[in-house]
Amino acid sequence: METKVIAAIVIALIIGVFIGYVINIPKIQQLEAELKELEKAAGIVPELKKQIENLKSENEELKSKLAKYTKSYVEEIKKRGKLIVGTSADWPPFEYIEDGNYMGIDIRIAQKIAEKLGVELEIKDMKFAALIEALKTGMVDMVIADMTPTAEREKVVDFSVPYYFSKGHAVLVLKESAIDSVEDLYGKKVGVQLGTTQEEWAKENLKGKAEIVSYNKVYPEMVMVLMRGDVSAILVGDIVGGVLTSKFPELKIAFYVGGSSVGAAVAVAEGAEDLKYVINSVIQELIETGEMDKIFEEEIAKWMIKE
Ligand code: ARG
Repeated sequence: METKVIAAIVIALIIGVFIGYVINIPKIQQLEAELKELEKAAGIVPELKKQIENLKSENEELKSKLAKYTKSYVEEIKKRGKLIVGTSADWPPFEYIEDGNYMGIDIRIAQKIAEKLGVELEIKDMKFAALIEALKTGMVDMVIADMTPTAEREKVVDFSVPYYFSKGHAVLVLKESAIDSVEDLYGKKVGVQLGTTQEEWAKENLKGKAEIVSYNKVYPEMVMVLMRGDVSAILVGDIVGGVLTSKFPELKIAFYVGGSSVGAAVAVAEGAEDLKYVINSVIQELIETGEMDKIFEEEIAKWMIKE
């Protein structure tokens, strides 16, 4: 009986060693460990790929930014021989068309900037809402359109020093209109120019209370719809309201809204430092010599003659 047990144990041992030898247990363990390592590595690869892609695009972005900042806008303008200026010529006395010519305060300032650069001036007239995009795409070198340097705009373009401070938006109505306060506008149609700070004010203060109608051009388009009675009021700049009421005695400024001391500045493409420098020096010079006041006075006076 005992020998049988011993024999069984011996046989079992022999079989065990044999199986172990044939199947090679340590090898399996080693392979498993290697596999685990490889799986871990494979998991890292897509992660690394993503990181490489991120670094690449970050690098591209920095390179294009650097190119923008080191690009000489002034050199390009001088080589071309003309300064291309975007405006919305519907905003007297800042910019308007008379007998096919571009006129007004902003046009004269633009002329001074072109002179300083020693080049011709070319005006590109477009709807106000298209001006920022025209700058971004390089279609124009600068924008002058009594444009207010708002935080929103500052994100995508650069602004010169301001050359004018407004006292707010004028609410223009027909002379016989009874509109006298913001509340009087409730339930009425109010015209504003698309993409302007006047439109922004209307959306913030009249939304759901008045019907806001947006137009691309102020003069003559918006002035016409007001005179026709299509809208009960239109929102324009303070000086703009002043000259329009003088030119059209059937209109009056009901009141002003939108706070005070909002500047107007020249806009350039983001990073157009050298051009901005020239523009700032021209504006500063015009202000210091009293020439800026003269330009404003003369251009306003042109509209003060009643017809
Ligand atoms: N100051 C206002 C703005 O920046 C209105 C300017 C309108 N200018 C014009 N040329 N239509 O939004």
